[in-house]
Amino acid sequence: MIKKALWISPNEAIGHRCPIFRKNLNFQKELSSAVLQITAKGVYVAFIDGRRIGDFILAPGWTSYKTRLQVQAYDITGFLKNGSELSVIVGHGWYRGRLKGFCGRNPELYKEPAELVAEITLNFSDGTSETVITDNSWNWAESPLISSDIYDGEHYDASLEVLKFKPVIVSGNNLKALIEQEGETVKEHESFKPIDFFVTPSGEKVLDFGQNLTGYVEFTVNAKKGDRVHLSCAETLDSNGNFYTINYRSALSEIDYICKDGIQTYKPLCTFFGFRYIRIDSAPEDFSPDNFRAIAVYSDIKRTGYLHSSDRKLNKLFSNIVWSQKDNFLDVPTDCPQRDERMGWSGDAHVFAKTAGFLFDTEKFFIKWLNDLKADQFEDGMVPNVIPDIIGEGGSPGWGDAACICPWQIYLAYGNKQILENQFESMCKWVDYITSTTTTEFLWTGRSQYGDWLALDAPKGSLKGISNEELIASAFYAYSTELTVKSGKILDRDVERYENLYRKILQKFRETYTEFNTQTECALAINFNLADDSQKVGERLVELVKKAGNSLTTGFIGTPYLLHALSKTGHTDIAYSLLLREEYPSWLFSVKQGATTIWEHWDGIRSDGSFWGKEANSRMNSFNHYAYGAVADWVYSVACGINVPYDGAGYKKIIFAPRPDNRLKYLCAQIETRQGTVVSSWSYNENGALNIHIKTPSPAKFIMSGKSISLEKGEYNFTY
Ligand code: BGC
Repeated sequence: MIKKALWISPNEAIGHRCPIFRKNLNFQKELSSAVLQITAKGVYVAFIDGRRIGDFILAPGWTSYKTRLQVQAYDITGFLKNGSELSVIVGHGWYRGRLKGFCGRNPELYKEPAELVAEITLNFSDGTSETVITDNSWNWAESPLISSDIYDGEHYDASLEVLKFKPVIVSGNNLKALIEQEGETVKEHESFKPIDFFVTPSGEKVLDFGQNLTGYVEFTVNAKKGDRVHLSCAETLDSNGNFYTINYRSALSEIDYICKDGIQTYKPLCTFFGFRYIRIDSAPEDFSPDNFRAIAVYSDIKRTGYLHSSDRKLNKLFSNIVWSQKDNFLDVPTDCPQRDERMGWSGDAHVFAKTAGFLFDTEKFFIKWLNDLKADQFEDGMVPNVIPDIIGEGGSPGWGDAACICPWQIYLAYGNKQILENQFESMCKWVDYITSTTTTEFLWTGRSQYGDWLALDAPKGSLKGISNEELIASAFYAYSTELTVKSGKILDRDVERYENLYRKILQKFRETYTEFNTQTECALAINFNLADDSQKVGERLVELVKKAGNSLTTGFIGTPYLLHALSKTGHTDIAYSLLLREEYPSWLFSVKQGATTIWEHWDGIRSDGSFWGKEANSRMNSFNHYAYGAVADWVYSVACGINVPYDGAGYKKIIFAPRPDNRLKYLCAQIETRQGTVVSSWSYNENGALNIHIKTPSPAKFIMSGKSISLEKGEYNFTY
């Protein structure tokens, strides 16, 4: 860990410009090893003699900077010779600039300077060592990175030949917030060549990379000094085939690159974009589309889950879910990667956490984010709606409940009690916060909230569905309390107070809410075991689905629980009908419309090619929001029936209870768990016979047609 270094910053205000810091490393002895420990207030890229160090993109990542700033350590032995120059560019990143002001363009946001702290340990062959620290012996200059912003993109001037270096100032010595790298590092992953290059009806030159992704483009051009490459991003084209950027709202998402002489390659240093299409607004005459590639950038989470079926469109939906996870797991779980938000909205994270843990190993990723949640939780227990908290608001039901739901899901997926240990106090604080702020004892009332966000039953002009907001809030109050009790028991804590509270919430809920009037109200009551008679609520849910024309009407809060509620009450056939439905509204509608990621709205692009919303609000239309991708957890745990009982967390015990449906010929779910590979697949042969294949690395139960069979580790086939 960095122990002695001092924070350094430019000795004058430079607004949008990004500084480069420099230091020559001189040593006379033979070097045996060298380590650079470094972090910044901003995002940094470090070079030794012009060679980039490490493959961590957007280091040091995004944490609750006031109290938690990750430090990275790099082995730089192979980079160094006596006199080598260490240089570090610091862009604004998430620390300063527009994102910090949540959409604003206020110059005040650049007042706090970019700062750097680093410690280089040089170990010599004779057993001695030396430490070089950031201090007033360093220099800085205005770098060729003229501006760099998470929302707006980068402006880089490669034609600047001589940089004017000046002395830095030491801006502080407070190292208290520094912590070791805790999360996954963010890295470059897949790269895509354009699948098409065309000119739109309005004359724009556009590259299509075929996949909506998060990252950036890299290009190579042969240019003259002063030539300009200007690129813009889009997720989609409009109905006339023109480049569409309205849904980026105020995020400019541009690359503006001024060339030097000769052949040169550039990719952004300190920012990222969400895009499928790139418009070439300006480029040297003879540029070639072949010299552009899109690079996906996301946290280095290991892929663990695979879903495959006999239905091509369903497979595309699965692929879209995986891509929306990659695209929104960029150091924090974000709502979307393109418009002027890209923040860790806790509600989105809670609804997707279970799916996320099937598809990728998300333990380390969530440990870090939940530590930030804990760090940003208010004194009174309120959980901010976005983590890291940059907007200072919170407590919305279904959003703040991420404090209890996410740790629980991570515990079930990986079986490590430590996550509960880390978060237990935060869970209790969240439940206590509700208890102390509600206006009705044992329910959760009197709180403004996002409701069933973006549900289709929203009254005209509203973004919230008509579901009773106090019912939603009270349902989450019950669920968070229940998870706090379960977690406390696993940790051997005294949870009597919460057990009593849970009983009273349940009783009061049942007395108060005797009718369920929307799909979301039914779905929550059934899933959280709140209804007196779940079966009856299940019938009501079916009635509401039928009334809506055999379709869903749910938003962010109801959708993840909808198919589960149908299955729990014996209506798996209807759950399949909703999953396989292709007309609007449905999951496969977006697939039919050409989606390559999950949309924020069921009707992001309508059948007639028009976009969601009316003129005034059509700007909030992301094509890369993972929330509705949470349907994958139903495919895993109901259709393929892979379940972890809570005394078997981490797949130490498994319950297989697949629910096949012959509208699909074949469905397969696979997960690489900490115990080994889990597979549950089923298929129908030409005679209609059903074959089920199970692979379990742990003792399991197989439940089918009301019969339960115990299984030991191994592979099994069943025919019906
Ligand atoms: C975000 C959501 C988020 C919501 C809160 C939106 O603007 O994109 O995903 O959860 O605000 O209601």
